[in-house]
Amino acid sequence: MSDTTGAVQALTTPLTANAVFLVVSVVSGGIDSARDVIVDLADTLKTLTFRFPETMLTCTVGIGNRIWAEITGLPTPAQLRDFTPVIGAAHTAPATPGDLLFHIRAERADVCFELERQILDALGYAVSVEDETVGFRSFDRRDLLGFVDGTANPVGPDADDAVLVGDEDPGNAGGTYVVTQKYLHPLPSWRALPTERQEAIIGRTKLEGLELDDAERGQKSHKTLATVTDDDGTEHDIQRDNMPFGRPGHGEFGTYFLGYSRDLSVIQTMLERMFIGDPPGLHDQLLDFSTAVTGSVFFAPRADVLASLRSPD
Ligand code: HEM
Repeated sequence: MSDTTGAVQALTTPLTANAVFLVVSVVSGGIDSARDVIVDLADTLKTLTFRFPETMLTCTVGIGNRIWAEITGLPTPAQLRDFTPVIGAAHTAPATPGDLLFHIRAERADVCFELERQILDALGYAVSVEDETVGFRSFDRRDLLGFVDGTANPVGPDADDAVLVGDEDPGNAGGTYVVTQKYLHPLPSWRALPTERQEAIIGRTKLEGLELDDAERGQKSHKTLATVTDDDGTEHDIQRDNMPFGRPGHGEFGTYFLGYSRDLSVIQTMLERMFIGDPPGLHDQLLDFSTAVTGSVFFAPRADVLASLRSPD
C-alpha cells in the first residue's frame, strides 16, 4: 500500500474515520473552471495537510464518461462508460447523473468538511451538486446493519494489483475505475430478523466477521454472490471504501458503496450476480433491505495526469 497521506488520488489508502462523497455535474460552459479546480487540487490539499498532517487527509477525483474527453483532452480509458443499470426481477441498480466525484477522506470530520467547502467554493457556478454524502466510521468498521464491512479488501501489493490499471491500458496505467452507489436501509425490518438469518444473508458471523461456508446450492449469501471468479479459479478482488451515513431523526440509514477496481467489468459482474442472482431469480437478499438510489462510474487518473491537464488550444 502506498504512503498516500495528504495526497490527491490516494487510490489504495486505508479506510479513515470520516469521508465525504461529493458527486457533481459540470454545467454548460463550466468545463474550464472545473478543470482549473482539479488541476489545483494538490495545492488546495497541501494548505490543509500542512496544518493538520495527522489527519491523513486525502482526496481522490473521479471523472465521468460524459465530460472525460472535453476536460482531459486525453483518450478515453478503455472501459470508461456511463453506469449500466442492472434490472433484476425484484430490485434495480439505477444510473444517476454525475461528472465528477470527490472522495474526501480523513481522520477528522472538520477537515473533510473544510476541504469540501473549499472545493465547492472554487467550483462556484461551474457545477451543480448531484449528491453529497457524509460518511463515518461506525464502531469497529461496521455498516449500519451491524456487520463488519471491508474485511475481504485486499491489502499491500494485492491492493495495488486489484486497483491500479496496468499494461492492459498503458495510457491510463496507475489510474482506476470507481463505482459509487448510495443504498438506503429500512433498518427496523432488518433489525427484526434473527441474527442467524442476517448472518446467512451476509455470509459472515455478526460479532467476529468470520466467514460462513458457501451454500452448496440454492440461495447464496452476499459474500458468495459478490465473489467473482474466473473459470480457472482466479478470484478478482476490488477495494471497497463503504461508509455508513444517516440521519436518525429523518429515519435515514444507509451505506455508501464505493468500489475501486482496475477492471470495471469485475464490479459490473458483482452487480449482476447481486441484482439478477446466481442462478437468475435468486438475488442477493441484502437487497431486500438495501435500496440503491444512485449509481455512477468514474475514472480516477494518476495524480500527475490530473495535475498536467490543460485546456485544448
Ligand atoms: C448495501 C450495500 C452493501 C453492504 C451493506 C455490504 C456489506 C458487506 C459485508 C458486511 C461484507 C462482508 C465483510 C467483508 O468482506 O467486507 C461484504 C462483502 C463484500 N461485498 Fe458488500 N455490501 C454492500 C454492497 C456491495 C456491492 C454493491 C458490491 C459490489 C458491486 C459489494 C461487494 C462485496 C465484496 C466483493 C465483498 C467481499 C466478498 C468476499 O468475501 O470475497 N458489496 N459486503
